[in-house]
Amino acid sequence: MQYFIQTFGCQMNITDSERISAVLENLGFVPAKRWQETDLFIMNSCSVRQKPEDRVHGLIGDSLKIKKKNKKFMVGLTGCMVRKSSTQNSELKDNLLKVHENLDFVFRIEDLCKLDQVLRECKAKLKIKPLEDEGTVENYFKIQPKYSNNFSAFVPIQTGCDKFCTYCIVPFARGREYSRDFVEVLAECGNLVEKGVKEITLVGQTVNTYGISRADKMSKKFEKYGKYPFVKLLEEIDKLQLKGLKWLRFTSPYPKDFSDELMEAMARLKTLCHHVHMPIQSGSDAVLQMMNRQYSVKDYLKLVNKFRKKIPDIAISTDIIVGFAGETEAMFKETCALYDKIQWEMCYHAKYSSRKGTYAGKILKDNIFAKAKSRRWHKLNEYIKKYSFKALKGYANSIQEVLVDEKKQDGLYYGRNFHNKLVCFKSRSNLIGKFVCVRITQVKEWLMEGKLLNK
Ligand code: SAH
Ligand code: SF4
Ligand code: F3S
Repeated sequence: MQYFIQTFGCQMNITDSERISAVLENLGFVPAKRWQETDLFIMNSCSVRQKPEDRVHGLIGDSLKIKKKNKKFMVGLTGCMVRKSSTQNSELKDNLLKVHENLDFVFRIEDLCKLDQVLRECKAKLKIKPLEDEGTVENYFKIQPKYSNNFSAFVPIQTGCDKFCTYCIVPFARGREYSRDFVEVLAECGNLVEKGVKEITLVGQTVNTYGISRADKMSKKFEKYGKYPFVKLLEEIDKLQLKGLKWLRFTSPYPKDFSDELMEAMARLKTLCHHVHMPIQSGSDAVLQMMNRQYSVKDYLKLVNKFRKKIPDIAISTDIIVGFAGETEAMFKETCALYDKIQWEMCYHAKYSSRKGTYAGKILKDNIFAKAKSRRWHKLNEYIKKYSFKALKGYANSIQEVLVDEKKQDGLYYGRNFHNKLVCFKSRSNLIGKFVCVRITQVKEWLMEGKLLNK
């Protein structure tokens, strides 16, 4: 039996898909190249905006054609769109199963250890081995993932979120913030490094509150790691440099919870890369308040200034939502003005998408016309083009150390440097997964090009 997973959304979902692959292979499935040529097609969904949800609905529709041709074909869904693990045969079904008759099953990611039961409930005759663990968040984190490569890995350190930004579905989709066991995270990182992994990225929705969420405090499990368990964790992982770890990254920190201790650790620990992705969402205090972001523009600016003093070569990127409910033209202009002040080197811009069930979805009117959202979005793209280019120009003629992660046609290789900047160069050798030195010869808006140097 073959399987194929289509992943949408953030790094959390990428790491989850690596765990789903592991479970399926443990049950006897083997990977397929395309979803159209498989027996089991699983979509790992994202609910953050309407667009990725629409794509999932579209794919479920498309899969009907395959079902008609291949009677064995099963379609399943997991990720942030799912509320209740169930199948078409369950008594209590998730709504998605009611809407899509050709969707066979859905499961919540924390029920991953029960995937065998879900599959058997769909098709009693399915010949798969049973799994032993119960479906809980703890157990799902314990699953040994099937990593997508052997040189760079994402490691999830928490799930859920307690912040309840008014626009955001994540606290509803993923539930309350929960941090993964400290020793377990360390063990996963240790194993990775032992296997040759050179770069680790720790992921979580507010990664810097690792070990200090409400649930973490109630469990008392993190008390022994002091006031800042995240800093302690970074310090411990940093020690893996002796075994071959070279770069350590994390994403995304929540600005309000960025402690001086964390910044100090970023300056001190050798493996920690000098790039921080710090989502601001808006440059207007009025909008930030409507979003329940719990910090002001002044607080964010203070943080940026502290960073630049302490780590002068820090590269700072962000996320911004345009056209949030009630965002006037004047408020949007405040975001533009802040762009000129901070000059983020990279930014993900999103047009506000109202989400059912969130505070904003229920109470605030999505009153900015699509056209105005688009105009604001394009305007911000002009800013990011300008400031990304400006930042990259600073690297002209320099020599950059790059971890190579992709090869395109004509021997063109791509990789990222210590500051997470994209570097491209040509070579005839196979360099995927290797650290190389590149002399930068040309700088473009989003990437730099250069010549490979012999070490
Ligand atoms: N935890 C991170 C963000 C996670 S969601 C943080 O707090 O910053 C990733 C990004 O999606 C957000 O930064 C935001 O820019 C965007 N986003 C979230 N909800 C959205 C919505 N309803 N409409 C548009 N963009 C949204
Ligand atoms: Fe969503 Fe806010 Fe939590 Fe980020 S911090 S995941 S935006 S609720
Ligand atoms: Fe999307 Fe869920 Fe991530 S909503 S952004 S996949 S946490």
